[in-house]
This record gives sequence, structure tokens and C-alpha cells, in this order.
Amino acid sequence: MTSALAILQRARVMPVVTINRVEEAKPLADALEQGGIDVVEVTLRTDASLGALEELAKAGHPTRMLGAGTVLSAEQAQAAVAAGAEFLVSPGMVEEVHAYCRQHGVPYLPGIATVTEALSAAALGYDAVKVFPAGSVGGPRFLEALASVLPNLAVCPTGGINADNLADYARVANVVCVGGSWIVPQPEIRQGNFQEINKLSEKSLKVVQEAKRLA
Ligand code: 3PG
Repeated sequence: MTSALAILQRARVMPVVTINRVEEAKPLADALEQGGIDVVEVTLRTDASLGALEELAKAGHPTRMLGAGTVLSAEQAQAAVAAGAEFLVSPGMVEEVHAYCRQHGVPYLPGIATVTEALSAAALGYDAVKVFPAGSVGGPRFLEALASVLPNLAVCPTGGINADNLADYARVANVVCVGGSWIVPQPEIRQGNFQEINKLSEKSLKVVQEAKRLA
């Protein structure tokens, strides 16, 4: 089984995608992939999200990793996996999603927002967590503090990350991947401006790679 950590290491940039119309899913995922990003987190925040996962799973891409985000219950976890999600993400640690994923061997990326939550996740055996909402809980400085006490816990910050602060996050030692919606802006999706999404993903990936190279 691929671990959540391996998925994050491979992604480096995790687009947090909200789909309002199923037909947006495929061109959006293709645009991301052409920009070098073939790991996608589709949030379960709209009526179209499960249909979007199904659509992407049906497209049967050889390398793309499909995730479902904002998974808040075991029921949602089950529905997302049935629709084709290969890993699950939550904004916090959702105990029933944790239990579901352990039972079914599904990679799970729970969220944390405090040192105590990070310690609890590590005690449960997690070697990677999402930090959400990263911008509101201290940004890169919080992640640095976390790395000093839990150096072996990899993090994927999301929440408030954009093209301007991306490099500051990517530079932090424990950051293996940076996530967010800035690469997939709603107006561009609505207007079918997938070329812009392609450009944003390419640019973001370069920023992260460069920040890691210089770190
Ligand atoms: C998430 O679910 O990770 C967040 O909604 C992403 O936050 P952002 O929209 O600020 O990038």
C-alpha cells in the first residue's frame, strides 16, 4: 500500500480542488498533470464531488493519484473510496475515518492544528499530517517549531497558502508538500480557463523545487 507520506512526497504540491460540475473534473486534472502535478485532492464539499471522483477514476489514468478531501465521517470515507479515491484527507483527526482507513488499508492524511494534536497523531503511528489552517495557526514559524520537537513528522500545510508565501512554507524542513486551492481558482474553473491552471501548477511546482533546493 502506498502511504500518505509517499503520496505527499510525490505530489510536492497538492491541489485542493472543489468541483461544481462533474464535466470540469477531467480537463482540470489534465491541466494539472500537464503542469507536473498528478496527485489531486477533490474536496467532498459539493454535490458534484463524488461524481468528479468517479469521472477521474473511470478515465483510468496510469499514474494519477486520486484523493478525497474534507472527509468528515466513515460514511463519506466509504463513498469516496467506492467512487475511486485512493487516499483520504480531513481537516482534523476524524476518529471514524482513521478507523475506517486502518481497517481497509486506505492511506489517510488527518489534519492537526496544535502541537498536542501533532503528538497524538504521531502516537497513533502517523508519519505525515496535514496542518490546517496553516496560515491562521502561525504559518511557517509554527511549522518550524513543530519540526524542532517532532522532526520525523512530515507535514503538508494548507489553508492560506498562495503564490506569494508558497516558498516560505516550502523552505521549512518538515514540509514535504504544500497544499491549497490557489492553483485551482474557482473563476478559472468556471470559465474553463484550464491553460491558466496549467501555468499555475507549473509555476508552483518550480517554486517548491527551488525552495527545497536552496533550503
Ligand atoms: C483545505 O481544505 O485544505 C483548504 O480549504 C485549503 O485552503 P485554501 O483554500 O486557503 O488553499
